[in-house]
Amino acid sequence: MEEATVTDLTLTTADAATLDVDVLVIGLHSGDDLTLAAGAEGVDAAFDGALAATLELLGASGAVGEVTRFASLGKVTAPVIAAVGLGPVPDEGEAVKTESLRRAAGSVARSSAGKESVALVLTADEEAGAALAEGALLGAYRFAGYKTGEVDPKILPVGTFTLVGAAADVERATVIASAVAKTRDWVNTPANLLRPPGFADEIAEAATAAGLDVQVLDEHALAEGGFGGILAVGNGSDAKPRLVRLAYRAPGATKHVALVGKGITFDTGGISIKPAQGMWEMKTDMGGAAAVVSTILAVAALKPNVNVTAYAALAENMLSGGSYRPGDVVTAYGGKTIEVLNTDAEGRMVLCDAIVRAGEDEPDYLYETSTLTGGQLVALGKRVSGVMGDEDECARVVAAGKRVGEGMWAMPFPEEIVKVMDSPIADTGQVAQGMDRSGHMLQAGIFLSRFIPEGLPWAHIDIAGPSGSGEAYGYIAKGATGVPVRTLLALVEEHAQA
Ligand code: BES
Ligand code: MN
Ligand code: ZN
Repeated sequence: MEEATVTDLTLTTADAATLDVDVLVIGLHSGDDLTLAAGAEGVDAAFDGALAATLELLGASGAVGEVTRFASLGKVTAPVIAAVGLGPVPDEGEAVKTESLRRAAGSVARSSAGKESVALVLTADEEAGAALAEGALLGAYRFAGYKTGEVDPKILPVGTFTLVGAAADVERATVIASAVAKTRDWVNTPANLLRPPGFADEIAEAATAAGLDVQVLDEHALAEGGFGGILAVGNGSDAKPRLVRLAYRAPGATKHVALVGKGITFDTGGISIKPAQGMWEMKTDMGGAAAVVSTILAVAALKPNVNVTAYAALAENMLSGGSYRPGDVVTAYGGKTIEVLNTDAEGRMVLCDAIVRAGEDEPDYLYETSTLTGGQLVALGKRVSGVMGDEDECARVVAAGKRVGEGMWAMPFPEEIVKVMDSPIADTGQVAQGMDRSGHMLQAGIFLSRFIPEGLPWAHIDIAGPSGSGEAYGYIAKGATGVPVRTLLALVEEHAQA
């Protein structure tokens, strides 16, 4: 796969009115009277102070991310002016919400596809500027796709995005946007073009280039090591499973964070086969693995003072004479036995092996993320991930998600569900006895908790819904979202020492 490309971002303090760009963007606040955001003064002067009234006439409201365009008719150098909504004018002493800034910049970049150059004029300090830069780069993302013939220029990402009057760490924003883009590219890739061995190769190549330590266990090494969970799922496919381990070491760091991700390159459900309707979406069932790998790639570039190890558990859940069956008893890495009742609960089967292996590195924290259950979608919808684990770590994940604009909500482990996850014949059940589906997002979390080393602070993030989006909004394009890369990165950085 091609390297994830990110639009060029530049900063300038030049006069916006004379900037030679295709689209000049100003900020607009909602309210009884529309208010231009700080930075737009020069542009407004070129229009004799008529911009707010003009936008009112055009029906603009200033709602976050709303984009209103009109021709400049020679009053400024740029041929098109766009106003992007930033929501209400902040109260005295308050700033515009960072997520509103991200979404506004993202909306502008997304809806300016095909333009060579776009400039956003908005006065912003480092923090606000970082949000604008990140939002713009995330919003500019386009998945290249597979159409042959001439490329329609209207779908190409913005060529150059310029922030006028904002301070920002452009390099950092670019690293973050690249990591998100890489996750989105992998998740958007069809399953025939991304199977476990090839995915492992792509990961290894990117990680080696980033200077990470790389270890890939193939099906033989997995058998040798007793990785029964990954093998049970992966053996149904001709494309055999892999467990990838990536390590970043900071000289002098005393803390160590482990990241684990589910990498099912396609989930048919296996013998407990899924219905045909919607099965195509299961090409995205490796979003957790893509996210942890992309996160550690960003870590390698940003170099925080904390050790990080990432595990991607890769398998394809198919039907064949080699598939595992309902009723099987599988021995996970480390020796715990699992009574399988539903081969479609394959994510937890590969994750338990990876979690036990990650525990051997003796990390101080473990964060695992997966497109694990349809129950997440039922309980929390398409944009809020379900967080399970220790109370403290759940709270930390939810707070980190809030900072970066990724919705997260902590879920409980109720004792009556813990109980039904026991098996009469093995160390643990895989799903509730009798396949009772009540609380099945929680069932998955409870199952995973049984493989976490005693006392290790941990959290599981179920991204079944949030890893993709059926619609474009803010800095999100239709398709893969890249959730929860920015939350994971925020968690890693929170554990870094100065
Ligand atoms: N990959 C699916 C979960 C999923 C569903 C992700 C919808 C994204 C969108 C997972 O492997 C699965 O099949 N889960 C089952 C679990 C059940 C068998 C206990 C589910 O959610 O029904
Ligand atoms: Mn499944
Ligand atoms: Zn799955």
